[in-house]
Amino acid sequence: MTVYRKALLFTKGLIYESKNGYINAAKQFDQNDVSVDVTGHVFMVTGANSGIGKEVTKELASRGGEVHMVCRSLERANAARDEIVKATKNEKIFVHIVDLSNIRSVGEFAKSFSESHGRLDTLVNNAGEMVADWRLTETENLEVNFATNSMSHFVLTESLLPLMEKSERPRVVNVTSSGMLLQCLNPKCFSKEKPNNFEAIIAYAQCKRQLTVLTEHWAEKHSSVHFSCMHPGWVDTPAAKRGLGDFYEKMSHKFRTPAQGADTVVWLCLAEKVLSIPSGSYFQDRKVSMKHLPLATTKESKRDRSEFLKCMKN
Ligand SMILES: NC(=O)c1ccc[n+]([C@@H]2O[C@H](COP(=O)([O-])OP(=O)(O)OC[C@H]3O[C@@H](n4cnc5c(N)ncnc54)[C@H](OP(=O)(O)O)[C@@H]3O)[C@@H](O)[C@H]2O)c1
Repeated sequence: MTVYRKALLFTKGLIYESKNGYINAAKQFDQNDVSVDVTGHVFMVTGANSGIGKEVTKELASRGGEVHMVCRSLERANAARDEIVKATKNEKIFVHIVDLSNIRSVGEFAKSFSESHGRLDTLVNNAGEMVADWRLTETENLEVNFATNSMSHFVLTESLLPLMEKSERPRVVNVTSSGMLLQCLNPKCFSKEKPNNFEAIIAYAQCKRQLTVLTEHWAEKHSSVHFSCMHPGWVDTPAAKRGLGDFYEKMSHKFRTPAQGADTVVWLCLAEKVLSIPSGSYFQDRKVSMKHLPLATTKESKRDRSEFLKCMKN
């Protein structure tokens, strides 16, 4: 089954997720969708100093938005902020330093942001990476891929929702990955035991499946907020270069630019028509896409889903 899923995902990737996939899809895009002024709107983007997150921040800033960049390195965050302010002439770009793999500090940051800011309209859970070696975080003893890609965004979103729900039409956009199509949800959301056959790509794909399931869960629970998740395609970024190894070496000429990868995130943040698409949907290139490959048996049972949600909450 894994071989079948990988073969199908690779073929789908070549056609739809590559640079050519973007160029073909973009022929159908309506640029009026994103020709909006968002002065006064408040956005938060995690992993905003690089790749897709940086492009998203720049696009939101260029339309007048106030953007809060959540990054782990002050130096990289300030360099990206300077570049964005220079390009957009928008000074309302703010840096917050949080290592998302440290869950306690994510919770503390969300609490202090909620106490000191009266408004947050849109949250983009973008930060993520594939850490090659199995290790536990020092603070909470969580497997590091799980802490960075899943638990951090769970805690950040849950903690910020009360503030966001005060806004008129709040949105949460989760950057997942088509890699999740390889994985069925594992209800035991994490383990402290090192598996015999640890594969970073599987750990990463499981996290992205978790974020997709969380998107659906939040959509059911919070009807006043619009939730979406998306796959950016194969995008030439530091995370892709570090995480994909040989695949990146052989295929990078087919990878999209960060701006192309960011396009659907920007559209999900800005387009009016997004709000009439059911909350909880998964997107690729501005279109609702399937959350499971045909015949791939990756759909979780209700029981597994509720066990997973219990595991996240505990
Ligand atoms: N590139 C692709 O082909 C592809 C495909 C599918 C999905 N995605 C997803 O797209 C999202 C953005 O990635 P990207 O491709 O744009 O890569 P990128 O340019 O390397 O950006 C990743 C961002 O996440 C930040 N980050 C990673 N771990 C963090 C932590 N512990 N605390 C705080 N920030 C952290 C990075 O910070 P530093 O700069 O400090 O490292 C960086 O700002 C990720 O969720 C990724 O999984 C990418």
